[in-house]
Amino acid sequence: MSEKLNLESIFVEENQIPSEFRIDEVHQREYLSNGEIKQWNGDVHSVYSPVGIKTAEGFKRKLIGTYPICTQDEAMISLDAAVAAYNNGRGEWPTMSVADRIHHVEKFTKMMIAQKDTVVKLIMWEIGKSFADSIKEFDRTVEYIYATIDALKDVDRQSSRFEIEQGIIAQIRRSPLGVVLCMGPFNYPLNETFTTLIPALIMGNTIMFKPPKHGTLLFYPLLNAFKECFPKGVVNTIYGRGATIVPELMKSGKINVLTLIGSSKVANELKKLHPKVNRLRAILGLDAKNLAIVTPNADIKLAVSEIVLGSLSFNGQRCTALKIIYVHEKVVNEFLQLLSIEVAKLKYGMPWEQGVSLTPLPEPGKPAYLKECIDDAIANGAKVINEHGGESFESFVYPAIVYPVNKNMKLYREEQFGPVIPVVSYSDVDEPIDYLIESTHGQQVSIFSNDSEEISALIDPLVNQVSRVNINCQCQRGPDAFPFTGRKDSAEGTLSVVDALRSFSMRSLVATKMNETNKQLFNEIVSENTSNFLSTKYIF
Ligand code: G3H
Repeated sequence: MSEKLNLESIFVEENQIPSEFRIDEVHQREYLSNGEIKQWNGDVHSVYSPVGIKTAEGFKRKLIGTYPICTQDEAMISLDAAVAAYNNGRGEWPTMSVADRIHHVEKFTKMMIAQKDTVVKLIMWEIGKSFADSIKEFDRTVEYIYATIDALKDVDRQSSRFEIEQGIIAQIRRSPLGVVLCMGPFNYPLNETFTTLIPALIMGNTIMFKPPKHGTLLFYPLLNAFKECFPKGVVNTIYGRGATIVPELMKSGKINVLTLIGSSKVANELKKLHPKVNRLRAILGLDAKNLAIVTPNADIKLAVSEIVLGSLSFNGQRCTALKIIYVHEKVVNEFLQLLSIEVAKLKYGMPWEQGVSLTPLPEPGKPAYLKECIDDAIANGAKVINEHGGESFESFVYPAIVYPVNKNMKLYREEQFGPVIPVVSYSDVDEPIDYLIESTHGQQVSIFSNDSEEISALIDPLVNQVSRVNINCQCQRGPDAFPFTGRKDSAEGTLSVVDALRSFSMRSLVATKMNETNKQLFNEIVSENTSNFLSTKYIF
């Protein structure tokens, strides 16, 4: 074994940060509630970047700003504002025509784009995502919003007609559900939050929005756009300790939809707090432990390159990441050798460095947790296969390939959500299938094989275990037009550009018996444009 990596050296002194990536501290003292940007004079939370800097006193996580720790009182005032803006479905926003709601969202998107540079830099500094991936996250979010607008136009066009069945004439449209509590994850703080917030909003719901714990400041530059573009009370931001504020919001019974990308434990606890569970809809993206199966008929080179992407993109911090790899015993040695070579090629360093893949981790306890997982695996008979695997310095952990992993190890079941690749060797293909059957997760799987019979024999049992089976490629959410969901503890509801519009709305219809009086009534309403719902107006 060669000497340890000098991981300390990847962190630089403040004056060595390239000027275009330096950040001025952001001290947020405002939050958006009931259409006003309100001032906050109470306690604040200090945001330290996972990116540390070298100082005379040694390594320090860089302070990048502060944000309000509001209390339950502010949250409840915002909740009342969201309830009032919805006004039992009679508010300006839920009754507005779809075309007008689209205009508001378009205006918001333009204002959001104007903040791109600031938001991207904050993503990079708050969660340590590479600059290139932070830009991708921003652009993908904007594309998602425009795709949502197009999809809604389409839905609306299809609803701009009457249906006649058994002498009943009806117009069927999608209508909003009420107040949506929206919480996103730290790993895609902007994208995953907006893939629920924007569809919820555009369908006419009012929003209580709590930014993720890591990845909060990046929404600050967007507060004014929310304020300017939507009627008062339609979008409200909540800052503060989730554990104290969010349960109270749920207990109020005034939340109609809970949408959260996070842990199933938190989601289950929150749902149970609602006094009328039948009135609560939940759209959830939760835990996952996606598995790859590499059969003896796989193109090992291809499997390795996809598995590197699948398990280490953004340091393995994706819900869709490959988190356990089953490799057939006949090819496992070749696989491990190639995997180690490919992992060693990945560039590690600071998020602003060109071509960097591995960067510091935002969760302060994560390096210690990953070490615990690796130590536990070693104690139970595994080894770290790759040179330098698991070495760490402060917030940075060098990826570890751990083999052979077995049932007794934490890495076998727990969602490591970090740069550790557990590899299991199998002899019978029933072993990975059984793993999935016993698993509490059911998001996706990747199969690597070039044998069509072998693949089809796996597809049929696996599509009923997970919600997406990937052939010869890594697991992933995109393209965003595809349904994104999961079984068991991995998800509730489906998200895609179109599915999200459905998830945050329900079908309502206006119906009447088809006689002369009713026909005339409907005709008058439509020709005089007096209803936004009963209308044949067509959005182009
Ligand atoms: O963290 C979960 C994300 O939705 C993953 O999205 O597969 O496109 O990286 P992605």
